[in-house]
Amino acid sequence: MTDLDQLLRDLASRLAGALAVAGDPAALDELRTAYLGRSGEVTAIRRRIGELPHAERPAAGKTINDAVAAMEAQIAEATGGIEMRALAGALDETIDVTFPAPPARIGTRHPIRRTIDAIARYFERHGFAVVLGPELETDYYNFDALNIPADHPAREGLDSFYVRPDLLLRTHTSPMQIRSMQTHQAPIALIVPGKAYRRDAVDARHSYMFHQTEGLLVGDGIHLGHLKGMLTGLARELFGREQAVRFRPSFFPFTEPSAEVDTTCPGCGGTGCKTCGGSGWIEIGGCGMVHPHVLEEVGYDAQTLSGWAFGIGIERVAMVIHGIDDIRVFFDNDPATLAALA
Ligand code: PHE
Repeated sequence: MTDLDQLLRDLASRLAGALAVAGDPAALDELRTAYLGRSGEVTAIRRRIGELPHAERPAAGKTINDAVAAMEAQIAEATGGIEMRALAGALDETIDVTFPAPPARIGTRHPIRRTIDAIARYFERHGFAVVLGPELETDYYNFDALNIPADHPAREGLDSFYVRPDLLLRTHTSPMQIRSMQTHQAPIALIVPGKAYRRDAVDARHSYMFHQTEGLLVGDGIHLGHLKGMLTGLARELFGREQAVRFRPSFFPFTEPSAEVDTTCPGCGGTGCKTCGGSGWIEIGGCGMVHPHVLEEVGYDAQTLSGWAFGIGIERVAMVIHGIDDIRVFFDNDPATLAALA
């Protein structure tokens, strides 16, 4: 087989030509298969060893093996070259650090938070302190101290979310009236923004968690007129100059007299519309003169001191400000919806 050397030399030089233009590792794999693979070119040559006389076969086999080793080396060298070029390319890549970054998605302050802050700003300007209280309360602070004994009917609708027999998620912010008066002498003027929890099924107007701002003013000669003045001022600040506030007689065990607080419906200015159900008024909370039992409970002198308290529903107020008729908007927290309210 004199042409064996020639055959192998041709093969090697064809391989060299193909390797020179192979651009990536996949192309090299294809070449290895085509030349050195089981049904590749070299295998075809190897088969022809059988045509040779016995004596010549070992030498021919060795020649082929040497050629295969040389071709493996050619492929390995080409592989190294391709890897080097890929690395050099990666190192060459320049990053423009001055290129403007895609805008960060910045959220907005939540409408509930903005409403809490607006109310707090108003009362702070009038000399009220802002205090926060625990969301887990004892039944003493949530009920008993507020003149709601265990057998009081008002308690039944509020008994909920107990984590221990004597510890529950507060159903209102009023417990902070007690805590504050226990630790501070009169006169006392404060508001308490925060979360409250009720055993309510979720619908457009109810949620098991919502926010209130409690207000408390106790001192010498404090009367309902002060309360109405402060709440009228608040309504004007929140909703506009033309706002009025009315008190509707109501009942709370910890105030006497007690009232619901309504304000002019900003949707219609008081003439009646869908938002206010035609009444011209929107209810935003409850209020009243602090009950003498409550003052006595904290050791205040109910003979010489008087005071008022209120509890305003923050979601209520925010719904009115933004013209929203579904409370769930505030808790779904869809960024786009909330951004539209900003
Ligand atoms: N705590 C009452 C409620 O949650 C509201 C209220 C507060 C009423 C203070 C009177 C005085 O419904």
